[in-house]
Amino acid sequence: MAIFENKQDKTFTLYTKNTMYQMKVDDFGVLQHIYYGKRMEYVDLSYSAWLGVVSFSPNPIDRVNYSNNHAPLELSACGLGDFRINALALRNHDGSLAADPRFYSAEVIKGKYSIPGLPAFYGEEGETLVITLKDSLYDIYFHMYYGVLEEYDLITRAVRIENKSDRSIKLERALSATLDLPNGRYDMVSFYGRHTRERMYERANINHSRLTVESVRGASSHMQNPFVIIADRETNEDYGDAWGMALVYSGNFMVIAEMDHMDKTRVIIGINPENFNYEVPAGDVFCTPEVAMVYSDAGFGKMSNCFHKAIRNNLCRGEYKYAERPVLINNWEATYFDFNADKLVSMARDAAKIGVELLVMDDGWFGNRDNDTTSLGDWFPNEEKLQGTLKSLAERVNNEGLKFGIWFEPECISSVSELYKEHPDYAFKIPGREPQISRWQYILDYSRKEVCDNIYEQLCKVLENANISYVKWDFNRHISDLYSVALPAEKQGEVYHRYMLGLYDLLERITSKFPHILFESCSGGGGRFDCGMLYYMPQVWTSDNSDAIDRLKIQYGTSFAYPVRTMGAHVSVCPNHQNARVTPLQTRGNVAYFGTYGLELDITKMTDEEKAEIKRQIVEFKKYYNLIQFGDYYRLSSPFDEENSLYCAWEVAREDGSEALVCAVRYGQDANSAPETFKVKGLCPNKFYRINGSEEKYLGQALMTVGIRYKYDFFSYPSNLYHITLA
Ligand code: DGJ
Repeated sequence: MAIFENKQDKTFTLYTKNTMYQMKVDDFGVLQHIYYGKRMEYVDLSYSAWLGVVSFSPNPIDRVNYSNNHAPLELSACGLGDFRINALALRNHDGSLAADPRFYSAEVIKGKYSIPGLPAFYGEEGETLVITLKDSLYDIYFHMYYGVLEEYDLITRAVRIENKSDRSIKLERALSATLDLPNGRYDMVSFYGRHTRERMYERANINHSRLTVESVRGASSHMQNPFVIIADRETNEDYGDAWGMALVYSGNFMVIAEMDHMDKTRVIIGINPENFNYEVPAGDVFCTPEVAMVYSDAGFGKMSNCFHKAIRNNLCRGEYKYAERPVLINNWEATYFDFNADKLVSMARDAAKIGVELLVMDDGWFGNRDNDTTSLGDWFPNEEKLQGTLKSLAERVNNEGLKFGIWFEPECISSVSELYKEHPDYAFKIPGREPQISRWQYILDYSRKEVCDNIYEQLCKVLENANISYVKWDFNRHISDLYSVALPAEKQGEVYHRYMLGLYDLLERITSKFPHILFESCSGGGGRFDCGMLYYMPQVWTSDNSDAIDRLKIQYGTSFAYPVRTMGAHVSVCPNHQNARVTPLQTRGNVAYFGTYGLELDITKMTDEEKAEIKRQIVEFKKYYNLIQFGDYYRLSSPFDEENSLYCAWEVAREDGSEALVCAVRYGQDANSAPETFKVKGLCPNKFYRINGSEEKYLGQALMTVGIRYKYDFFSYPSNLYHITLA
């Protein structure tokens, strides 16, 4: 039983395998947050909460010893004395900005809850606790959802706000969760970036000013990721407290961490309140997206593995959830817009010979698109370029022995397109203002059902009329000029979220209509790598930067929350198209193994030697496929830590310690450099192992405690795989 209610203590305690989360309803009905940390036997831990009142912290007239400004709250709201950052700003019908949520009822439900219209973790094996709070004045109910997936130490939260009053209310801020931590000094780890440099690891002290990680771009974005870790100052990969928080949402988001004037830390996470103002009419409801949380008492590594397993097993869906995904070749960097059917077929022919399984035709196959200035929205094949129908091209590729995949950018519209000529109002545009263009394109107003339907029908027509096995769903600009002609002035603050609801609805429809298609999410590389998109598409193009050395940082940062299995990773040519670096082909392969592994190059232009190497890589990748994709993942050294190591190393290991694979890439170049070792993780201490089939046997404990010396090859950017098997 994961959820335990103690009626006498008025506590609710959530248990996962290793963690415990406790709340208590105080004598006045306020739902307090008591504890989130290591699992222990049941005990009412509320003695530890500090509720004192200090000057300038208002208190209710009948409670001189209490202030909302100090209580650890499950639902923090503004207006009634809580001056900290808080999750809820509710404008009542009388114009007041206040909410006073008090306990109303509680219910335990078998299975993990779902949220209508929004992505969420799922699992019949899970449990749900719904605590309903009611405003002390108005008929407004706050259903606090807690989902528990015990096995992965995952606790999810979401709020459903139900307006049972007879007047409309407005939500000016409705975040998914507040997490009040006990006194202590914490850091926040976040993942910033830009195009071709996504999810860079950054760690900052949480001090008395507010630390914010956010996006107001209409997408989760390259610039920040909706995943953060709150950690003790000393926490590292293997040691210390860490609380990971992943928002299951792909639009505007915000995480704020703040240490208040009494040195208590609060974190809030959810939809960004900027340009968010949501009306909940009488009788209606609003659901926040969910946040998934993992607490680890043993550092970041343990936390990451819980997220990886939960995402693989309880977030990703569809036929490719566990199935082996095809090794693909994508023509983007091979040809950009300059291709025709013969070119693609020749690529397919050469690719088939070395074991590639799927060819993806990227941007440029539709309308009149020979560059990025036209045709988004016109999802009909350019039959001149394809030298026939799309169906016939797919057949030609299939005849070479490869599956066929295709690129779309369904949320955007070019100003030069048939769709724009016919429906200029389909694009976001503020009345009287010229809309901002970005990559020559505008954004379609997905808050409108008819716009989504138009695109849905166009996509269906394409996908039904040719043998298509894979879709890359791209999104190459961020949202500005937000305005929907379909909504009145007072509802314009709903458009960002309604856009997301429209997108998610379309994704649900299209992915369930075409269950055999493998969908890969993309947004100018990894601009929308989040748990929201992963619910619909089980892999994401991690970055447009396929340089193996830059990828070390990108994949390292991504790995804190997201499993290897979700990371699109390709081998491309040198000099690299993004940074002109030259790296060994073997290193490019080794790095791409720890992702989906594919090719982003013109195979027809590769030498026989290069083709033979790629053929070898595909065989090797397949050999390790199961271990890499489903093993426990360990970061052994950081690519951001040049002072301590010139190597970036990581590992996957079977949960039972029977097999492991370590990859080490030397990213620094030093003359006369010092020898370095790495310590393996996750082995059985008392068992013996061989490394790459060595004669010599090594004790597990020794490999984990003393380590292995890196093999140093004297050329730029060498890399090595260490396959560790039971002797
Ligand atoms: C951005 C993607 O990340 C690339 O892989 C490619 O598909 C281009 N868009 C095409 O426009």
